[in-house]
Amino acid sequence: MVLEELNNQIRNCKKCRLYQTAKHAVPGEGPENAKVMIVGQNPGADEDETGRPFVGRAGKFLTKTLAEFGIKRETLYITNIVKHTSPENRKPYPDEVAACLPYLQEQIRVIQPKIIVLLGASAKETPRVEGIEYFEVVHPSAAMRFTKMREKFRVQIRELSEKIGELGVI
Ligand code: URA
Repeated sequence: MVLEELNNQIRNCKKCRLYQTAKHAVPGEGPENAKVMIVGQNPGADEDETGRPFVGRAGKFLTKTLAEFGIKRETLYITNIVKHTSPENRKPYPDEVAACLPYLQEQIRVIQPKIIVLLGASAKETPRVEGIEYFEVVHPSAAMRFTKMREKFRVQIRELSEKIGELGVI
């Protein structure tokens, strides 16, 4: 319920310019008591169409790789640093990130995950909270494109799956 209220705030957000060019905000999805949270950069075209995170090519690749290592997407909370898509899918500007970060901070406060997976460089801006383990992973878009990155991504997702097993959090 708390999360739903927050999602509604995000859907009506006008704190930066991105709402003007986007079709839908993409707050995130997953159980309110998820133990693992995944954070990406910002929604792409497919996510903008549907209002759901990671449903395009990179998302399908992420979901498939997680499943290969025994991690079910629906057990995780999946969101992004910035909740609206950007023109031509450009990297969000620092003022857009700054305007949006309080939503992620609040999502972390409500969900209280044990592990936060940061996808790619942009996600490193995620607020750090004591007691949460942060796990940096190659962005799935890069992993799809470059063989070396794909190998690294698979190693990292395997390590994540081991960590989840160790902590017994799923
Ligand atoms: N890439 C991201 O970083 N986030 C999404 O939601 C989709 C693609």
